[in-house]
Amino acid sequence: MLFVLTSNLTLFRQSYNVIFPSLTKIMHNASFFYIFFCTFVRFLSTFWLSFLFQYGYVNHIEVAYEKTTIRKLKKIQNRIDIQELKVSFAIMGNRSIVSIADYGKEKIQYLLDMATEFEAHPNRQLLKGKVVATLFFEPSTRTRLSFETAANRLGARVIGFTDPKATSSSKGETLKDTIKMVSNYADVIVMRHSLEGAALYASEVTDVPIINAGDGSNLHPSQTMLDLYSIYKTQGTLENLNIYMVGDLKYGRTVHSLLMSMRRYNPTFHFIAPKELEMPEEYKLYCQQMGIRYVEQQDFTEDTIADADILYMTRVQRERFTDLMEYERVKDAYILKADMLGKCKENMKILHPLPRVNEIEYDVDDSKHAYYFEQAQNGLYAREALICDVLGITLEDIKNDKTIIG
Ligand code: CP
Repeated sequence: MLFVLTSNLTLFRQSYNVIFPSLTKIMHNASFFYIFFCTFVRFLSTFWLSFLFQYGYVNHIEVAYEKTTIRKLKKIQNRIDIQELKVSFAIMGNRSIVSIADYGKEKIQYLLDMATEFEAHPNRQLLKGKVVATLFFEPSTRTRLSFETAANRLGARVIGFTDPKATSSSKGETLKDTIKMVSNYADVIVMRHSLEGAALYASEVTDVPIINAGDGSNLHPSQTMLDLYSIYKTQGTLENLNIYMVGDLKYGRTVHSLLMSMRRYNPTFHFIAPKELEMPEEYKLYCQQMGIRYVEQQDFTEDTIADADILYMTRVQRERFTDLMEYERVKDAYILKADMLGKCKENMKILHPLPRVNEIEYDVDDSKHAYYFEQAQNGLYAREALICDVLGITLEDIKNDKTIIG
């Protein structure tokens, strides 16, 4: 098993899911215990890691950035004779987009303006001569195809893979080596990976910009950018909105990313999820620290959503469950039906990162509130903006662009 380690807490999260699936549930249900235990684990990380190695749960670690963790790992490496241990250390920075949580209003508006320009004229030759690599270690339809379409429409060429089994990572090549290799060929790397922290790690082993196309249940910044663009287009503003997030708030990286990016816009969030899939404690703490209002609720009726500006539906993510019985118990918890839309606000729009499974009934598609297919289309313009941004092409360049086709 490979761990991409960006902090002790991330290591712990990744490892307890493997070793103690039932502990995951207990910890998410008992917030105080969760926080206490995570703090405790930070102090014990050296011993924890030794245990994982000695009992064969881990045979390969790649370390991203945390200096104290690196020091501890060096101690372990010296103390324990483990042949398979390959620890990679990396210290680099570039124009990568790992998260957009720290983007200020000015930067977000800048990217929204770029996306607006691209919506007016998506076909250009701004990236002629460039190569964009799309490395998808996890399945995707929209993210990969819209990134590839964005690159193609801007005149770049695209390389990449959709099945890691068909690459040398199946022969044991490390993520670091794969990234370094692809960096020899491409000007920008778009990567989706199942491990939290993988994008950050990748961004620190190469000078080529990395765009995080989703890392485990952590973040999905390009989705957030298209979500922000969709909200901005439909509401005319990002300020003071009531945003209802429904479904799998535990594993849904899109809701985590969106929540963090909206923090400067005075939102009020409503988290509607079954107990097992409620918003993780760390994001609730984030809201408290940032002064973001949120309400947690479990009912989902016509009345509940009457005050929503944005109803952000999510799929229950089967692939992240360690206990499939639990998935079966919660998978149909919240289903949006057309007859629930009678009392909603005129401006209310239903978003969904897609794919949908059964959480939005098909009759909702005909409603004027349904916006999820347009939202996915907005992904093209938002991703054209992101690729240009990491390659140093400015809004001014785009406004003055003379390469528009059609
Ligand atoms: N929204 C999203 O990430 O969709 P895909 O998994 O199809 O890329």
